[in-house]
Amino acid sequence: MKYVIGVDLGTSAVKLLLVNQNGDVCNEVSKSYPLIIEKSGYSEQDPEEWVEKTTAGLAELLDVFDGDVNDIEGISFSGQMHGLVLVDQESQVVRNAILWNDTRTTAQCQEIYDVVGKQRLLEITKNPALEGFTLPKILWVKKHEPEFFERASMFMLPKDYLRYRITGNIHMEYSDAAGTLLLNVAKREWSKEILDLFDLSDSFCPPLVESHAFVGTVTKEISEKTGLTEATKVFAGGADNACGAIGSGILTEGKTLCSIGTSGVVLSYEEKNDLDFEGKVHYFNHSEENAYYTMGVTLAAGYSLSWFKDTFAKQEEFDQFLAGVDEVDPGSNGLLFTPYIVGERTPHADSTIRGSFIGIDASHERKHFARSVLEGITFSLNESIEVFRSSGKTIDSIISIGGGAKNETWLQMQADIFNAKVEKLTSEQGPGMGAAMLAAYGSGWYPSLKECAKVFIQTSKTYHPIKENVETYEKLFKIYQQVYTQTKELNEQLKEFRK
Ligand code: XUL
Repeated sequence: MKYVIGVDLGTSAVKLLLVNQNGDVCNEVSKSYPLIIEKSGYSEQDPEEWVEKTTAGLAELLDVFDGDVNDIEGISFSGQMHGLVLVDQESQVVRNAILWNDTRTTAQCQEIYDVVGKQRLLEITKNPALEGFTLPKILWVKKHEPEFFERASMFMLPKDYLRYRITGNIHMEYSDAAGTLLLNVAKREWSKEILDLFDLSDSFCPPLVESHAFVGTVTKEISEKTGLTEATKVFAGGADNACGAIGSGILTEGKTLCSIGTSGVVLSYEEKNDLDFEGKVHYFNHSEENAYYTMGVTLAAGYSLSWFKDTFAKQEEFDQFLAGVDEVDPGSNGLLFTPYIVGERTPHADSTIRGSFIGIDASHERKHFARSVLEGITFSLNESIEVFRSSGKTIDSIISIGGGAKNETWLQMQADIFNAKVEKLTSEQGPGMGAAMLAAYGSGWYPSLKECAKVFIQTSKTYHPIKENVETYEKLFKIYQQVYTQTKELNEQLKEFRK
């Protein structure tokens, strides 16, 4: 039996999966690392932690492996997107990595619009200037830490730096490069125009490769530390959202993913590179060659639910907390929730907006509030689906993973609100499995990722929309959509009272 390893370099931990040729996860190891939050809005990590924890995780994975280590053919990576790693001429890290969830760069986003022009930025990068993306972080370092910027000769993204330390070779692949605002997404090349506008040289950007590209083998040092052989092949990997999509089989037109974690993502496979969503949703290169995906993000999806539970029923388990929600009819007896408790990204990129419960009635019990939270999160994700549909996309089948796939009532609710068939997978491993599949495909186990997905991914249950519920939710969604505009001004006034 042959094996591959999928490494998911996340924001709070690195997760490693040892996967065999049948797609079975034979062993998994997770190692966490801290966020460095120097002040409000800042979020950094020490890249050395990624290397140390991944090396220790690999050693642990290999320690309990009772097969022949020569049968571990390949390794690939999924990574937290957008994070800035600056390195000098000797490829030494210049400062801590500034992560995707760091929001210090509002002024630099405006600078990008002023210099490039909003329309031109969308034409080239297909995405708006958001605080989390990489170019604003580069400009922030240039302005506020010129001594570090002068030392920097190249930038990398988190998993690309980790892979460099494992192979000694520097590359970047398209799916992660798409989140930098420096890539011409349709042409799949660094944008000379944007680089020139910000006085950045071509050599500041690593060479681009496909996600399944073979980029080297494990160095002697890593081999000695982990037990992997020096012959282990290393494949480039992909952005965590692209890898999450691959690991859920989102590999053909019409396939859509709903992934509810702390934040929630709705992501749809896209063959074309020339659609125009006016920047309302993200539009990135997939980790399958020449494919794309569109993506909407609800910042507080699972987080809205955990906030509500922790605030009002801290001692209860989730199952117990959600026990009564199936007794409440769709619409929660007139109670409507908007999940903007930390601001929002899609379709309203607004850091000031906050959540609401609208229509509180003396008859409402806790179960009505719990159901309306689930409904509000799902309505928010449906706003992204509406953006996709209004561009002409057909969305009739959605794979649901994460927290939203753990509750039967919520799965049926997704089918009813999205008005689409919702499928649950037999085993979901998220981005780590996508990374393992890139290694499997790169190793030549399958002629394509699609063929790999046929073996590795199975659905266990399908939820079909119930006509009556669909009609109720269509009416409620129209009301939900008005809450943002009607509470925007109120929240701007309330801002001064927030500590
Ligand atoms: C995507 C994004 C997040 C990170 C999390 O645009 O910012 O999903 O990729 O790792």
